[in-house]
Amino acid sequence: MDQLQYGGKATAPRSKVTIPDLLAMKRKGQRFTMLTAYDAPTARFVEQAGIDVILVGDSVANVVLGHSSTLPVTMDQMVSHAAAVSRGASRPLLVGDMPFGSYQASPADAMRNASRFLKEAGMDAVKLEGGVEVADTVRALTRNGIAVMGHVGLTPQRAAQLGGFKVQAKTADAARALVDAALALEEAGCFSVVLEAVPVQVAALATERLSIPTIGIGAGNVCDGQVLVFHDALGLGMGDFKPKFAKRFAELGPVIVEALREYDAEVRAGTFPADEHSFHMKEGEAAELARGEAATKPRAV
Ligand code: KIV
Repeated sequence: MDQLQYGGKATAPRSKVTIPDLLAMKRKGQRFTMLTAYDAPTARFVEQAGIDVILVGDSVANVVLGHSSTLPVTMDQMVSHAAAVSRGASRPLLVGDMPFGSYQASPADAMRNASRFLKEAGMDAVKLEGGVEVADTVRALTRNGIAVMGHVGLTPQRAAQLGGFKVQAKTADAARALVDAALALEEAGCFSVVLEAVPVQVAALATERLSIPTIGIGAGNVCDGQVLVFHDALGLGMGDFKPKFAKRFAELGPVIVEALREYDAEVRAGTFPADEHSFHMKEGEAAELARGEAATKPRAV
């Protein structure tokens, strides 16, 4: 029988990754992995690869929505992408990234928006950018039952204030301030902290001083976990900009273009769709259709 098949719910081979699992991995010195995803099929690939944590990053603004910064993405858009991710994967810990403007005005605002990730999108936790200045917000969220991942170093929502996408904490004073910020986030209740674009020595010090896991991106191999943007890791980016830390584990862009060229050529040549891609009537129905057509055809005079 001809059947239409469009994907389906992912099957999770191992048990759900939890926050206590990540804390235990840090204690045991076992590294863990995090990748971004923004839709159901991608989340499914990430889950199938055995990645521990999926971040529905506000980097969706850059790599999916075509913006030049993360600032324009809205809470509604983030909830929609996060809900798609949770339909595609259930085993990894799922973290929704709070977009610019969704948590800065007040802890009450942060609470309202963060709870949307849990209630409407099936996320397990949220992430927000900033150090000491967001500690009260982190405290309010965690006190009310929302698990929070911090993010210090290069915080893209503040790129203008930071003078662009630059390595942070390069001086001893700035390094001490960054470690203090990470400690303040831990004290406020964060279960982990992303360290973005900081020297290896700073990441090493933070990883040693914090009892919660550090997750590095452009922070060397000394962190407890690593994160990359899905599109950077697989060569799916739109522009030529390639951050030094974003190793490409595959170049899928040219593979996709080649496949699409084949589709284009086969349609033009009439070789696609072939018989195996087409639906057919039962013999009797086809014959009756032909008879009916012949009966209604105007006769030649
Ligand atoms: O939005 C994002 O993808 C991120 C990661 C780079 C950590 O915040």
